Amino acid sequence: MELLLLSDPSEDKVRSYLPRSRCFIASSGGVLVGACVVQELGAGAHELMSIAIRPAHQKSGYGTALLKWVIDFFRGSGASQMEVGTGSFGYQLAFYQRHGFRVTAIDRDFFVNNYPEPIFDGGIQLFDMLRLMLKYPATVA
Ligand SMILES: CC(C)(COP(=O)(O)OP(=O)(O)OC[C@H]1O[C@@H](n2cnc3c(N)ncnc32)[C@H](O)[C@@H]1OP(=O)(O)O)[C@@H](O)C(=O)NCCC(=O)NCCS
Repeated sequence: MELLLLSDPSEDKVRSYLPRSRCFIASSGGVLVGACVVQELGAGAHELMSIAIRPAHQKSGYGTALLKWVIDFFRGSGASQMEVGTGSFGYQLAFYQRHGFRVTAIDRDFFVNNYPEPIFDGGIQLFDMLRLMLKYPATVA
């Protein structure tokens, strides 16, 4: 939970999607360094609800390795697409787009309407959520 709260500051929200999600973890030398939660939306679609790496281990490639593993896992299981919602600025946006996620929509004022307190990232208030999607190419049987 401590890890997942790095990605989403609302414990209530995290607890609401955990029971119907799968959680993947990254470890190094037996130490838990990261976690990623993915919820099935149906019809081959999945949503990446959360991904977080322990602060002391960030910027060392663990997040990239975990995201790649999760993307490949769902590709291998026949998924058609993976969605994610993230802030409208910040390094996280590049983090997802580097792996093929594309912006599909803007959820205006999401962070104002869905959280009791204003959320800041790098000193800038987060207002809008960008919805991104990674489409898995159809595989030929
Ligand atoms: C987002 C997150 C999972 C990425 O994991 P990570 O292990 O730090 O990422 P990597 O080391 O694989 O680096 C991926 C890229 O992100 C950049 N990055 C990671 N943390 C960064 C930071 N705090 N500030 C700026 N860039 C950062 C890296 O420099 C790298 O870019 P580069 O290849 O151009 O150098 C991790 O930083 C994290 O847990 N952040 C807090 C929770 C969060 O924001 N989750 C996503 C919610 S949408």
